[in-house]
Amino acid sequence: MAINFVNPFTPVVGKVPLHMAGREGVITDVEAALAGTGNDPAIISLLVGPRGIGKTALLSYFADIAESSGWVTARVTCVKGMLDDILIRAQRSAQHLVNTQPSRKIKGAGIANLVSLEQEDSPHKLVNWRSKMDDILSSLADCNIGLLVTIDEVNPSIEEMVTLVAAFQHFLDEGKKVALIMAGLPYGVTSLLSGKSTSFLRRAARYELQALSDYEVEEALVRTMKDGGKTFEPDALEAAVKAIKGFPFILQLVGYRVWRMAESSSVIDISSVDAAANIARKELEQRMYDAVWFELSEADKSFLQAMTEDSEITRQADLPSRLNKPSGHVSKYKKRMLQQGVIRERSRGLLEFCLPGFKEYFDERIAEERGAA
Ligand SMILES: Nc1ncnc2c1ncn2[C@@H]1O[C@H](COP(=O)(O)OP(=O)(O)O)[C@@H](O)[C@H]1O
Ligand SMILES: [Mg+2]
Repeated sequence: MAINFVNPFTPVVGKVPLHMAGREGVITDVEAALAGTGNDPAIISLLVGPRGIGKTALLSYFADIAESSGWVTARVTCVKGMLDDILIRAQRSAQHLVNTQPSRKIKGAGIANLVSLEQEDSPHKLVNWRSKMDDILSSLADCNIGLLVTIDEVNPSIEEMVTLVAAFQHFLDEGKKVALIMAGLPYGVTSLLSGKSTSFLRRAARYELQALSDYEVEEALVRTMKDGGKTFEPDALEAAVKAIKGFPFILQLVGYRVWRMAESSSVIDISSVDAAANIARKELEQRMYDAVWFELSEADKSFLQAMTEDSEITRQADLPSRLNKPSGHVSKYKKRMLQQGVIRERSRGLLEFCLPGFKEYFDERIAEERGAA
């Protein structure tokens, strides 16, 4: 009997993959922290890495694990209004527990009152936020339920981060059952950690999400494909791993396309992989790189163009003369590009592009633009 399989790949940002490739270290740590006593450093964790490396997927994965082991979660993105968002979400999840656990009483009235959120951004409101959270936490504590807050796309310029961090410090000092997992681009997280008012976060466990190893890619590809009812021919698998370059988003894009191309067949050959890899590259450009490109100013582009003169690593010291600009200008644009997650500083003064294939993409776009002008 033929079984109708659905495409098992998830080429959608933030989506938890069917099989998480790699990431064992961080997963083990966070799971242990959620199961533990609250003294574990991973109870506050920072997931750091470039776009498409799997930060959001991992945040959701942890929130799912936490929920299935009885925690309440509030999943938010770091934007203005995030504190209210956390309150509303924590409250909703807590209320849901009130309804599903009739025998164990949560102080329902206390939770219901919290719906009245104030609109103004006064210091009073911030104190208020903490005390409202305190109320929720003590209601949850009555049932021995913990609260996990996940914050995606950490942005140090959002002032609410300061209130949040101070509140978490206080919750942990008081032995409350809370966990905080945040994710962001390296630059954002580093500047958050260097801020005085958020220095408490230096206590957090920091995880740099790196490219996956070929072995991890291969394993996830094979397993996911198997769940979709297909297998790779050996040379096709090898070609797919090579095209993916350890990059989770490309893994999903390539996997998705390969699976579709071989829809009627249960064995995948190398020609499907080659064709799929080409489409996947275009999709990566459209879904991720175009957005990055449109954010670039003319000066950003000149800066990056000066970097493309090197095959891999650019010495910052070489840039002022290439750009014919003072070193202050170079520092400013380096900072902007680090912030955007377009480049990384491998070590002091040594810069490189950090998204796979972005440099080639950039070269093409620049040539088009200059050609059209
Ligand atoms: N460890 C992983 N294994 C397989 N696929 C992954 C993994 N991590 C993320 N993905 C997939 O990669 C894509 C990008 O992940 P996402 O979490 O949105 O990245 P980021 O938040 O770092 O930009 C998504 O399609 C997701 O399903
Ligand atoms: Mg993300």
